[in-house]
Amino acid sequence: AMATGTKYPFRRLIPEAPLLAAATGRRPSHRPVWFMRQAGRSLPEYREVRAGIGMLESCFNPELVCEITMQPVRRHKVDAAILFSDIVVPLKAAGIDLDIVAGVGPVVANPVRTVADVAVLPRLRPEQVGAVGEAVSLLTRELGDTPLIGFAGAPFTLASYLVEGGPSRNHERTKALMHSDPKTWHALLGTIADTTIAFLQAQLHAGVDAIQLFDSWAGTLSLAEYRQFVLPHSERVLAEVADAGVPRIHFGVGTGELLGVMGEVGADVVGVDWRIPLDEAARRVGPGKALQGNLDPAVLFGGWDAIEREVRRIAAEADRALAAGATGHIFNLGHGVLPDTDPAVLTAVVELVHSL
Ligand code: CP3
Repeated sequence: AMATGTKYPFRRLIPEAPLLAAATGRRPSHRPVWFMRQAGRSLPEYREVRAGIGMLESCFNPELVCEITMQPVRRHKVDAAILFSDIVVPLKAAGIDLDIVAGVGPVVANPVRTVADVAVLPRLRPEQVGAVGEAVSLLTRELGDTPLIGFAGAPFTLASYLVEGGPSRNHERTKALMHSDPKTWHALLGTIADTTIAFLQAQLHAGVDAIQLFDSWAGTLSLAEYRQFVLPHSERVLAEVADAGVPRIHFGVGTGELLGVMGEVGADVVGVDWRIPLDEAARRVGPGKALQGNLDPAVLFGGWDAIEREVRRIAAEADRALAAGATGHIFNLGHGVLPDTDPAVLTAVVELVHSL
């Protein structure tokens, strides 16, 4: 079914989908579960369709994006699809010279370090991600009642790739810029936020049912740094897409000490990694938000007895989180599926979560 609003003409009406119910404070018919990076190298059918095609090239091919996004839904019966793309896709589309190197991650040809670099940084125009919108259209027709999660990288995490030039352990150049030249830093994050907003709006206009903002590396920041240098920009991103009326999920790795402030950024759902139990996360986030998480992806290598014990522990902690004021629980990993994960284990985790 389609809603008839003019701004979001392709919005689907599937409010009883367990993921959307759990994200909006209603009671789901079963506990919803999906996995970050559920599409990708853990699946032989993914490796097969990707053979000989570059990662970024794949992201601009709507039929391929549709097929790869559907693969884990068909195989695992997860409660959501997540659009197959990458956080650097909107930067690439806007004209920034970068590539995704297998086994490494995003690599930026000309890192952004100075006020002059920031001044010439392009912003995404919606027509530059037309292929992504086409993929969303194909998917909403194939998915039936399974919600499609769109996503984007948060300004800080994208800035870290642009400033460092690639993946970084300590983010030293990024922190050097924020502390030594706050004015340039805020100009940089403002420009990236404009691109993030345009990328999310393109997906929302095409009909995604929820969005996730990935601030994967925010856990490297102190609370004070997060408040001063990051929060205003992520807050603006989430506010600018609020009128779509779809659940907004906000996630970072190692953010246990930031959960209080992450509860203030404006998301409906806060993603939690495995370092902190969900009931404690609920107390830190504060009431009125749903939680997503938080099985350690490495535990999936520990044999079924350990996996089942951990899944049951997380479900029990999530139930205590609900008692402490959380409005829902979406089962997920604490970070992405690792490439060597046995896909049969992921299918079994979905069955177990649904049986609880
Ligand atoms: O299934 C899904 O979750 C959707 C697809 C997805 C990808 N990237 C596909 C991908 C999503 C949501 C992302 C987001 C993303 N990309 C994040 C945020 C999520 C997180 O993991 O914290 C980040 C930090 C990136 C940047 C990035 N892109 C990294 C670190 C890597 C891994 C590099 C490697 O090869 O180990 C990528 C590449 C990438 N993005 C792959 C996939 C499936 C692997 C490349 C391949 O299959 O050839």
